[in-house]
Amino acid sequence: AITQKVDSLLAIMTLEEKVGQMNQYNGFWNVTGPTPQDGDAADKYEHLRSGLVGSMLNVRGVENVRAVQKIAVEETRLGIPLIIGFDVIHGYETMSPIPLAESASWDMEAIKRSAEVAAAEAAAAGINWTFAPMVDISRDARWGRVMEGGGEDPYLGSMIAAARVKGFQGDDLSAVNTIAACAKHFAGYGFSESGKDYNTVDVGTSTLYNQIFPPFQASIDAGVRTFMNSFNELNGVPATGNAFLQRDILKGEWKFDGFVVSDWGSIAEMIPHGYAKDNREAAMHAANAGSDMDMESYAYVAELVSLVEDGKVKESLIDDAVGRILRVKYELGLFDDPYRYCDETREKEVIGNPAFQEDVLDMAKKSIVLLKNEGGILPLKPSGQRIAVIGQLAAENNSPLGSWRIASKDSTAVSLLDGLAAYPGNQITYAKGVDVTVGNTAFVFETEINETDNSDFSSAISAARGADVVIMALGEHGFQSGEGRSRAEIGLPGLQQELLEAVYAVNKNIVLVLHNGRPLTIPWAAENLPAIVEAWQLGSQSGNAIAQVLYGDYNPSGKLPMSFPRSVGQVPIYYNHKNTGRPVSPGENLVFWSHYNDESNDPLYAFGHGLSYSSFDYANLQVENNYASQGSIKVSVDVTNSSDVDGKEVVQLYIHDMHASVTRPVMELKGFDLSSIGAGETKTVEFELTDAELGFYNNDGVWIVEPGMFKLFVGTSSTETMSSQFEI
Ligand code: IFM
Repeated sequence: AITQKVDSLLAIMTLEEKVGQMNQYNGFWNVTGPTPQDGDAADKYEHLRSGLVGSMLNVRGVENVRAVQKIAVEETRLGIPLIIGFDVIHGYETMSPIPLAESASWDMEAIKRSAEVAAAEAAAAGINWTFAPMVDISRDARWGRVMEGGGEDPYLGSMIAAARVKGFQGDDLSAVNTIAACAKHFAGYGFSESGKDYNTVDVGTSTLYNQIFPPFQASIDAGVRTFMNSFNELNGVPATGNAFLQRDILKGEWKFDGFVVSDWGSIAEMIPHGYAKDNREAAMHAANAGSDMDMESYAYVAELVSLVEDGKVKESLIDDAVGRILRVKYELGLFDDPYRYCDETREKEVIGNPAFQEDVLDMAKKSIVLLKNEGGILPLKPSGQRIAVIGQLAAENNSPLGSWRIASKDSTAVSLLDGLAAYPGNQITYAKGVDVTVGNTAFVFETEINETDNSDFSSAISAARGADVVIMALGEHGFQSGEGRSRAEIGLPGLQQELLEAVYAVNKNIVLVLHNGRPLTIPWAAENLPAIVEAWQLGSQSGNAIAQVLYGDYNPSGKLPMSFPRSVGQVPIYYNHKNTGRPVSPGENLVFWSHYNDESNDPLYAFGHGLSYSSFDYANLQVENNYASQGSIKVSVDVTNSSDVDGKEVVQLYIHDMHASVTRPVMELKGFDLSSIGAGETKTVEFELTDAELGFYNNDGVWIVEPGMFKLFVGTSSTETMSSQFEI
């Protein structure tokens, strides 16, 4: 029925009106890209009135959305409603942990719930469409946007992509608590050279098909309604003008029937890329390549009509693009009632609903990863302890909200100090020590770089001296990662490492609570400190979640979705690397083998690593090979919680296809199970491997399964496993 409605509407639209549907303008206050040179507010209003705008982004709140919608619906000839887009990345007003942190939960139900909450609040603010999830796989912690993704692994990344899409979109896109999702950035953005944002991407076919594409395919399988293309060029062709990506793969092979929006200004950016000589040529390339909507390039609205008239772009392609956009608007119910997302009462009731705090607290606790815990320092004793809390981040109620949180209210997170205050049995002394941004040259958007060194090592040291335990909250401010925040050095920014070592000199009983949007290089801390808790940027309930983990009221079960390098020179470092012709074997003379002269090949903390207050023992790995008869390999393992604390464990399964026509990684995650295992209990965890797990894309982009030997690994991380093998 929607197809008929779309066709009937298309039949009465002028070419100008069709092009208008393909034009998206930023609103009038938030800017999520470079400040535009042209297209000022007066032009935008004029275009809106003339039916030359199909969508707006960064307009939020019922009153504002209603105002622009009213113009589109009441003042234009056809009254086609706008679709209102916004970056709802990890919450709208109530903030969930940053997506990388959520990914560390390996808990798809919780991730889905987090997206549901975000969608409900955003929809109540008049928004119909989020530019999320970001499903870019990345192996480079220098890239600031790793905070926004699912980490380095395509299997885990695909599950997370699907969970987020389902959470945002629900079962019914027209429901007033769901919004359309957008898989971004298609494609390759996470593989920018040297981790520098917007940089060139040059990857081979195997990486493209086996690493980059899978989460996008998973998003389509989960029903995602839109895609965003990408700023980067891919093998010499900007993604925005890339017909291979958008026409051959996305709309061709994958039969995607939603629409593609360009990234902010990415059509016009094909000029500096050196792919188009002017905006007109850029518009032509983008439209022909399958970019359906122009975000803030002013290229389609200015050029597409005459490009069609001159025969440079076929009108059938315009019809296809507009049909896709209209279809999603119909699915959202915007034609039935353009104001269905504009209800002031609902806005008041839903946004900031206190019940959502429980959801984001739950997500935050599940996102924490216990990286190290020796000598029984954690959990903390509930009383009788003198605890020194050191580091600016411990008092921060803004930074934990993370990057990409446009609609959240400033300084509304529970700080670590506030979270710890819920445990009054211990005596807390706080000392800031240093400002996170002192001496740090990274561009810190919305947070001033502190030019003056306000560090006060002495009060930190005296607090530590008299303490039984020192909690050091160190790492990155929430705005030190995110878009445009790539870093060449990924240690503790500023003077924090010096502070840490100075405190350690007087008290070694340190629990390091890391706040960060990316893996950091902290080899000294890993070597010397008894405990390290990865607390990312955990959103509104950050301090409560961390305190509950520190005190053992919540038993952590998070596992790293990205490897932590020992040093930045190892980057890109990832667990599913190739073996090479000269792999290092333990005990060998290393010179002519693939290695560094000054650094180990191993990560500091491996993909999948994460401890618990419980201890889990693995035994009885069984492999039942029914591949010849039933096309399946059954695997089971017994996992025993040998501690006296109930806990949860992410049991991970990896394979290695030992010889193939395209070399395979040394390990590939192909299954995991998040199991609750009571104290003293043994659980048998089962997996099944079929062609969907055993195959790979060859260099023609065809999924194949080749006979031969496979290794199998099951364990608690990518480096601590039991192994077996089988043949198919
Ligand atoms: O959604 C974002 C995108 O990820 C980066 N550029 C701006 C877009 C809209 O804000």
